[in-house]
Amino acid sequence: MESLRVINLGVETGGKKILENVNLYVKEGQTFILFGPNGSGKSSLLSTIIGHPNYKVFQGRITFRGEDITSLPTNERVRRGIGIAFQNPPKVSGVKLIDVLRYCARVAGMSEEDAEKKIEEYAKFMGMEDMLNRAVNDGFSGGEVKRSELLQLMLLNPDFVMLDEPDSGVDLENITIVGKAIKRILERDKPQEKRKKSGIVITHTGHILDYIDADYGVVLFNGRVSCIGDPYEILEHVSKYGYEACIKKCVERRDAQ
Ligand SMILES: Nc1ncnc2c1ncn2[C@@H]1O[C@H](COP(=O)(O)OP(=O)(O)OP(=O)(O)O)[C@@H](O)[C@H]1O
Ligand SMILES: [Mg+2]
Repeated sequence: MESLRVINLGVETGGKKILENVNLYVKEGQTFILFGPNGSGKSSLLSTIIGHPNYKVFQGRITFRGEDITSLPTNERVRRGIGIAFQNPPKVSGVKLIDVLRYCARVAGMSEEDAEKKIEEYAKFMGMEDMLNRAVNDGFSGGEVKRSELLQLMLLNPDFVMLDEPDSGVDLENITIVGKAIKRILERDKPQEKRKKSGIVITHTGHILDYIDADYGVVLFNGRVSCIGDPYEILEHVSKYGYEACIKKCVERRDAQ
């Protein structure tokens, strides 16, 4: 079944074209890994999918389960089951993490009693019990911010999950926790035929691929999808030879078909 479709998408922000002719088709149960050099438009793509008002769609559209969501406000997209863990989320002084988690649980349709149980269970799982009464991201370390973002997603329980560099800045011990959390959020711990969740994960290092398997890798280059293929192959090729060589190989292979 169809999950997210990005059709011929063109996006601009601050008067600059960031994405052009981007096409993606993610089916239910599939996880895509999004690669690309700094500034290639990865975070902008996720921000556009969630409906960040700074990103203007000048071409194409986005559909979720067949419905055109291109003009919907962010809250409506979230209500339909799309969630995001940002690369650099803002600090929210005066708002406690636990209150955001309660709100996420409410949006997900949980009763108050269930929410308290789940918050306790998930906070323990993420090693965040001591941080629940602190203001969101206020003075959090880089790794704590990443875990806090994932904890919020665990409560929100979206069907389409977007994770922007969840492995960046996470230490060697916590990467195991982050990896397990993502595996759970994306249902990669279930057999393929039982997976309902789908999503896009951005990573530079590929560390997260040690914990979750993924169906496809996509390379964004200068705001365009330049390559789609096996994520492990792409990672290996980019690590050895760089992005331009990876794209060249991809184009040669496509032309030969
Ligand atoms: N609000 C904005 N105003 C102007 N330029 C912007 C804005 N947001 C993004 N950009 C520009 O768009 C381009 C793509 O940025 P984006 O954050 O999507 O890159 P990225 O692929 O996520 O990079 P990284 O790997 O460094 O996170 C960059 O050149 C960036 O400076
Ligand atoms: Mg980014």
